[in-house]
Amino acid sequence: MKNYLKPAVFFLSLWPIYIIVYQLIYNKLGPEPVDRIINHFGEWTLIFIFLTLSMTPLKKITKSLQWIKFRRMLGLFAFFYASIHMLSYVGLDYRFDFEPLIDDVFKKKFVFVGFSAWLLLIPLAITSSNKMVRLLKQNWKKLHSLIYVISIFGVLHFIWLSKTIFFKPLIFLIILAVLLLFRLKFNKSSIVSDKNKL
Ligand code: HEM
Repeated sequence: MKNYLKPAVFFLSLWPIYIIVYQLIYNKLGPEPVDRIINHFGEWTLIFIFLTLSMTPLKKITKSLQWIKFRRMLGLFAFFYASIHMLSYVGLDYRFDFEPLIDDVFKKKFVFVGFSAWLLLIPLAITSSNKMVRLLKQNWKKLHSLIYVISIFGVLHFIWLSKTIFFKPLIFLIILAVLLLFRLKFNKSSIVSDKNKL
């Protein structure tokens, strides 16, 4: 049964693609299909970043190592969807005309912060293999803590582009706050247990 879990999670993670293909085939993308596609993949990027961040808390809460097996795959899916999101913006909105895009990055703060989040995801994707974990040793953990910065940038991007925090951006902000609190709590408890060992 356990052997099937990873492929099952892989095919489930393709859900955002199934939805968009279905909506394309059945003409259900609505009056603004380009915006629909961009927003769809933007939202799913954030969801996958949160799923990746949830694996460690779930491991600690359930005392099961199973969750960690999915962390890399979910993180790579986050990068995959962020890249589709970015490419649909550049390709569908600007027809790969990079000049207005570069203008947007420097003029619109929501694009700047989203673009920065995507750039920061690149080193994490490149160093996600077991070989890189071994090569980078302690630095790997430090580098991969960037995922917290990326998640904050992702939520800021959502709040700034929405111009109001209500309603979806607020839900994402609350989930982010819970995940960051977990991180703080577990960091504190591991410092206490390290001290007790001394
Ligand atoms: C980790 C990276 C990123 C995350 C998590 C992210 C997330 C999101 C989210 C959640 C939305 C709104 C979805 C909705 O309204 O339902 C969105 C929209 C958008 N994002 Fe991103 N994004 C990222 C990177 C980028 C990049 C690199 C660009 C472009 C260079 C970009 C450009 C946009 C644009 C243009 C919109 C739509 C704005 C509109 O409605 O007019 N995003 N993104």
